[in-house]
Amino acid sequence: MVIVKQVEKADVVCGLAWGDEAKGKIVSELLKTNKYDWVCRYSGGSNAGHTIYVNGEKYTTHIVPAGVFYGVNCYIGRDCYVNITDLEIELEYLQNNGFDISVVKISPMAHIITSQHKEEDLKKYKSQQGSTGKGIAPCASDKYARKGINLKTFVENDNIERIFSFRENMLDESELYGNILCEGAQGCWLDINYGNYPYVTSSNTLPFNACSLGFPPQCIRHIYGAAKIYDTRVGIDPDFSDELLNNNDLSTIAIEGNEFGSTTGRARKVNWLNLDKLIQAINITGTTHVIISKLDVLEKLKLFNVYYNNKLLKYDSMENMISQLKNLLMTHCKFIQKIIFSSSAQNVNFF
Ligand code: IMP
Ligand code: MG
Repeated sequence: MVIVKQVEKADVVCGLAWGDEAKGKIVSELLKTNKYDWVCRYSGGSNAGHTIYVNGEKYTTHIVPAGVFYGVNCYIGRDCYVNITDLEIELEYLQNNGFDISVVKISPMAHIITSQHKEEDLKKYKSQQGSTGKGIAPCASDKYARKGINLKTFVENDNIERIFSFRENMLDESELYGNILCEGAQGCWLDINYGNYPYVTSSNTLPFNACSLGFPPQCIRHIYGAAKIYDTRVGIDPDFSDELLNNNDLSTIAIEGNEFGSTTGRARKVNWLNLDKLIQAINITGTTHVIISKLDVLEKLKLFNVYYNNKLLKYDSMENMISQLKNLLMTHCKFIQKIIFSSSAQNVNFF
């Protein structure tokens, strides 16, 4: 009898906002405490930027899952978009920093971002929609028009000597097994269906899409939803007006919170946390564990405001703000098991 490999349990880390919610830190923390056989990316491409601290050193990745920092098998799934040059640069950077890149495997069905895709993105989407310029939208259009190139086809025609053999490191989803951690990219409000269309990315960012890794929904155990105690948005979005940049308090948060994109270096617009949106995001994603980061930033500046019911609520202390926040989330979000607050860029305390 042939023994079929099977995924047992899958945990998913997803963004509850517009990306940049410190998902990298959460993935990193889960890898330190839990046992996973695989860490997998299920959407997006090198438009993402994940910041991870390993032994106090800061690293940034764009497409390679954070398992690479811990010697855990890494997988880039078929619903991801891969630019070979970008990936090679990232793999070289990881190797130069002493990490073993042979743990990285890629689905033969992942779509390739070509240099033409990038050119088109830079020409059209970057100025009109504030895209990252990584070629995502043009690659996604070709994929859905059924004229794209996947990794399997790319490899068949590639004769270049590379530091990483894409041919040898192709692996089908059916080879994944055991407990897997699914590393979300971007966030709920950048999702192609749920974001402020057309100011969205060309991916299904919601956790259900982790099932594009080839396991059924029944395998999903925990959904870790990442949020921040204030909102940020990079790129163009009419819901984040330019006036936000003239608000003194919000500008100091941007500086104190170092709100600059890790992929593009662009300044992020800051707004007070929109609790109505956060509640909706938690419910759409089915988040079981909410992780709210960057409390240290507001604590230091003594700024404690949130929007709820479209009104700005002001608090006199962090304690009062988070106690009401907890109450509202527990009342309105039935899947939540735990709410965790984090005041450190480097780690999260899950206990
Ligand atoms: P694209 O994904 O490069 O096409 O960009 C589409 C929109 O999503 C733009 O507003 C980008 O700024 C935003 N975006 C894409 N990836 C990220 C991310 O990882 N963090 C934050 N915003 C992102
Ligand atoms: Mg990011």
